[in-house]
Amino acid sequence: MPKKRTAILISGRGSNMRALIEAAKAPDYPADIALVLSNVETAEGLARARDAGIPTKVISHKVFASREEFDIAVDAALTDARIDLVCLAGFMRIQSEAFVRKWQGRMLNIHPSLLPAFPGTRVHEQVLAAGVTRSGCTVHFVVPELDAGPIVAQASVPVLPGDTPQTLAARVLVEEHKLYPLALQMLADGKVALVGGRATFY
Ligand code: GRF
Repeated sequence: MPKKRTAILISGRGSNMRALIEAAKAPDYPADIALVLSNVETAEGLARARDAGIPTKVISHKVFASREEFDIAVDAALTDARIDLVCLAGFMRIQSEAFVRKWQGRMLNIHPSLLPAFPGTRVHEQVLAAGVTRSGCTVHFVVPELDAGPIVAQASVPVLPGDTPQTLAARVLVEEHKLYPLALQMLADGKVALVGGRATFY
């Protein structure tokens, strides 16, 4: 089976992007990272992607009058690059319904909590304020509702006494870097699909 041409969308550091790029170097990995696209020209991850020899593209949301027009430009870039699958990895833009519907079933996101608990931003702060004893990360299909898509895979970590948002984030991030490559592999291999609004495993 040909490898699935995959785009990673980032806005910042790009550590999950790097984990995906590393995993995709394995000859038998079913996805090929064909494009890294960022809405932020100065995103650190862009430089790392270029270092790794991955084609990159910047589309600043600031030059578009609306969310929809920005998403149309992103969609055109994905189509130009003949992209099959999309991984959001710290991509800090809410996407329009039309864009999400077009890529539904072919687009994943990673979120640093055990969804459906703690969606949104300032996740580790929310987790610590709630006093839960475990947190983790979730890879899910992207649907129009934010951080609400069907779950593909999760990993959990303990919340330890004395944790700060930073120490908890670091512990979760270690798991993110293992989980995202696994989840993309499952999707690219056809081991998971979005069927009737649910994640179905084969
Ligand atoms: C990660 O914690 C991810 O779960 C969240 O944003 C962060 C991105 O980090 N969506 P990085 O850019 O992959 O290093």
